[in-house]
Amino acid sequence: MTSIGIHDLELATAHHVLDLGVLAEYAGVDPAKYRIGLGQDEFSVPAADEDIVTMGATAAQAVLERTGIEGVRTLLFATESGIDHSKAAGVYVHQLLGLPPQVRVAEIKQACYGGTAAIQAAVGIVLRNPGERVLVIASDVARYALDSPGEPTQGAGAIAMIIGADPALLEIEPASGLFTDDVDDFWRPNDSSTAIVDGALSIKAYLDAMAGAWDDLAAHGGPAITEIDRLVYHQPYTKMARKAQARLSTHLSAELGEGGLGDSGLAEGAIYNRRIGNAYTASVYAGLAAILDHEQGLPGKRIGLFSYGSGSVSEFLTGVVQAGAAERSDHFTSVLDARVPLTVAEYRELHATVLPSNVDVETARVTQAPFRFAGIKGGARRYERR
Ligand code: CAA
Repeated sequence: MTSIGIHDLELATAHHVLDLGVLAEYAGVDPAKYRIGLGQDEFSVPAADEDIVTMGATAAQAVLERTGIEGVRTLLFATESGIDHSKAAGVYVHQLLGLPPQVRVAEIKQACYGGTAAIQAAVGIVLRNPGERVLVIASDVARYALDSPGEPTQGAGAIAMIIGADPALLEIEPASGLFTDDVDDFWRPNDSSTAIVDGALSIKAYLDAMAGAWDDLAAHGGPAITEIDRLVYHQPYTKMARKAQARLSTHLSAELGEGGLGDSGLAEGAIYNRRIGNAYTASVYAGLAAILDHEQGLPGKRIGLFSYGSGSVSEFLTGVVQAGAAERSDHFTSVLDARVPLTVAEYRELHATVLPSNVDVETARVTQAPFRFAGIKGGARRYERR
């Protein structure tokens, strides 16, 4: 059977950053609650002229510069934070990148799970025609109400991946475990720019789904836990990955903690997410990128990936690291370092700004990214190369 998986990947994030120590001081909270209790140090905040399209296009441009567009006939854009109820955000990316008309575009939604759904759809397309490649973009801005418990777990980021045959980075294995359950743990009504969340229920729903998805993976011939070298979990905040690992350890009566299986996956897999914050659909793949960028000797090793989207749909899949991973190194930390810090007052002002869709508006020129959201004209969003 054809080997299919992630051929290349690239991350992008937003222009601004808020340090959680600064937010903790403002909120009168012990900073250790955020840094240790949640496992988060910072979160990215989009400038007025950034959104899921500009971050997604930035990541996709970087990846396509390396791989070229040969064979790309599909662009799948996964997001929780869609900008239009009808038009796929990927159509704007298609235009910004100058992709040919013979590239189909669609948007996939199921909270943070959408990126994995897009990857599985892409695998099916490549299986049908191994000469094709699929550009998968997962891009999100995580927004909770100001002063709410979810506030320190906000974030913004995107990942672009090329899915194809004979992948250079990660072969995705055929067996996967699924778990769907209609649960009101986190959702965002069409007229709300912030998520509604029941924090305690969301943690329980995530952990139950993880155990259920693992059992389904096992029932479908997936590898034993002893055959998995690293584990990467969806990380709404990086402490959640530790909770997941502890639950899996109990569920399987297996030693997965310090020095045990998958342990280094937790530490390395948190490096980018601690600083981006929650990037919803991109989160688990930012964890994967961090491991690929920071660990030596990974080719041949098997990585388990747990993808969770509230509401809820989740999937446990596995992949085998390919030789190209040896050529990766960390260039994303310098991107994170280059973000411009915000004061709490500046962050709160940005958070409060929600543009009406029926008034013409030009956004301030702030971002240094290759693409910017220029504003709204005639009710339609306008984007431009910077
Ligand atoms: N020093 C060290 N640790 C401290 C501390 C201190 N001074 N003070 C508190 N802590 C610890 C607590 O003990 C707790 O640890 P445990 O979870 O291990 O018990 C941790 O910090 C968090 O403290 P609280 O539970 O009191 O925090 P909270 O009630 O303010 O909110 C939250 C936590 C529910 C996660 C909230 O941030 C939230 O609602 N987040 C959004 C929802 C979310 O991310 N859910 C995760 C699963 S759903 C999902 O994964 C989908 C998605 O992307 C949203």
